[in-house]
Amino acid sequence: MNIAIIGHGNIGGGLAKAWAAKGHALVFGARDPEKSDLAALATSLGAKTATIRAAVEGAEVVVFAMPWGAVDDVIAGAGDLAGKIVIDCTNAVVRGKSGMTLAYGHTNSSSEELQRKIPRAKVFKSFNAQGAENLANPTYGGVPASNFFCGDDPEARAVVRRLVEDVGFQAVDVGPLENARLLEPLMLLWIASSRALGKRDLAFKLLER
Ligand SMILES: NC(=O)c1ccc[n+]([C@@H]2O[C@H](COP(=O)([O-])OP(=O)(O)OC[C@H]3O[C@@H](n4cnc5c(N)ncnc54)[C@H](OP(=O)(O)O)[C@@H]3O)[C@@H](O)[C@H]2O)c1
Repeated sequence: MNIAIIGHGNIGGGLAKAWAAKGHALVFGARDPEKSDLAALATSLGAKTATIRAAVEGAEVVVFAMPWGAVDDVIAGAGDLAGKIVIDCTNAVVRGKSGMTLAYGHTNSSSEELQRKIPRAKVFKSFNAQGAENLANPTYGGVPASNFFCGDDPEARAVVRRLVEDVGFQAVDVGPLENARLLEPLMLLWIASSRALGKRDLAFKLLER
């Protein structure tokens, strides 16, 4: 699958490592495609680097793995996103005196805001509710952690499921994009759990029988 990844940090880099190992064709779209750390990462994975517009142009899937605050810049630079599957990993966190809160919540979500900004793209929320370390190793005692995803396009959800599974997670489809209202606060719960337990080696698991 041809995947453009915008952001090559903890999340973008982690996803790229996992997907490169599964043979996906990756291109990092960046403000500065020649930046040295990006070039080194891309070379190590057999990935390409490009401007955001060029990366998006040839991609079936576009991954938003940059700060939420950069979303308007990225959209402005991306060109035509119509028909593309956009996986939104961002969290619209606001850091205040009382800690982290979300800019949107409960009756709205940043992913729904994103879908309104790019109405012809197929926006999915995923990979937002666990520490990035999990992308390198999502299994705990041999059990894969759960990674939830949601979005509205019926055909695209099989693609997103496969990409979640290609990282090594149990993929849990939680329905329409509106349910990003539930997935975005889940990151705050992950952060609170991480602080309470004093470690980042933790992830959510949906038990079934
Ligand atoms: N870290 C986590 O554990 C975690 C977990 C779940 C979700 N998230 C979410 O995932 C997103 C990425 O987090 P991260 O930890 O991977 O961040 P990060 O390590 O700081 O990386 C951010 C990336 O975004 C790029 N970027 C920043 N501004 C940009 C712009 N205007 N246009 C294009 N690219 C831009 C940066 O590239 P340059 O500055 O080099 O251009 C960098 O590659 C955030 O929304 C975060 O809330 C993070």
